[in-house]
Amino acid sequence: MASLITKAVIPAAGLGTRFLPATKAMPKEMLPVVDKPAIQYVVEEAVAAGLRDVLMITGRNKSALENHFDRVGELEATLLQKGDSDRLRKVNFSTDLAEVHYLRQGDPLGLGHAVLRARMHVGNEPFAVLLGDDLIDERDPLLTRMLQVQAERNASIIALLEVEPAMANHYGIATVEPTDAEDLVRITGLVEKPAEGTQPSNLAIIGRYVLRPEVFDVLERTRPGKGGEIQLTDALQELASDDSIAGGVYGVVFRGRRYDTGDRLDYIKAIVQLAVEREDLGPDLRPWLKEFSDGLD
Ligand code: G1P
Repeated sequence: MASLITKAVIPAAGLGTRFLPATKAMPKEMLPVVDKPAIQYVVEEAVAAGLRDVLMITGRNKSALENHFDRVGELEATLLQKGDSDRLRKVNFSTDLAEVHYLRQGDPLGLGHAVLRARMHVGNEPFAVLLGDDLIDERDPLLTRMLQVQAERNASIIALLEVEPAMANHYGIATVEPTDAEDLVRITGLVEKPAEGTQPSNLAIIGRYVLRPEVFDVLERTRPGKGGEIQLTDALQELASDDSIAGGVYGVVFRGRRYDTGDRLDYIKAIVQLAVEREDLGPDLRPWLKEFSDGLD
């Protein structure tokens, strides 16, 4: 069954305090992962899944995002003059990639609030939400699978990843029951960042959602939860608890390659993992990395 969904929402209003001072004057979404800003991977993923209408929920200090997905005449002219068609192609690629819209979040009241801000743009149709800290390898098309499941089940769909128990308090955690499909579970409960040792499972929400528009009504009445923020997880818990609201919630259990760029250590790992596989960098990086690691205690 083909999906009719066309819109992706990308919350990008966070302050990126974990990366200060790099993020003092630059949005964290612009931090390069190898040679592309993190946000471009996410937009490319949306487009690869057929979602060319992208709404970014931004805040102050985010003009670099708009510039990145816009023309830059002077640079284009210089590259053209030099005959550097390879770099010109790279510059134009991000300009033409998607139809990108921007909306400021206003008050930083949490992920649920950021998603609710998309209501006017999205209207009354299902849509995807992609969080920029999670990068999904393009060879493992998670979002495409989620869109397919959404079309089949007419429910809301979240992406789940099995995590180490000690990491469960960093994520929304799901209680699930099996379905007839091997990679698909029905969500019976969700809890945002449960205290250590209290998690109902090791299945964590990673930053990909395909949601029915009824989630907006639920978000309107969702009270602040964990950390005093309006949590998307809490709204999804309500959808999961009553199938009659909007068909319930299903989880696609992802077993592919995912790179976390949310904190400094994971960000460094993501760059190394992606760079060793690159055709232009991997052949030189791999032997160097081996030699370097042999020299470590
Ligand atoms: C958000 C969600 C959380 C989810 C996580 C995935 O948390 O609230 O449920 O597991 O993204 O990356 P954040 O990382 O923004 O604190």
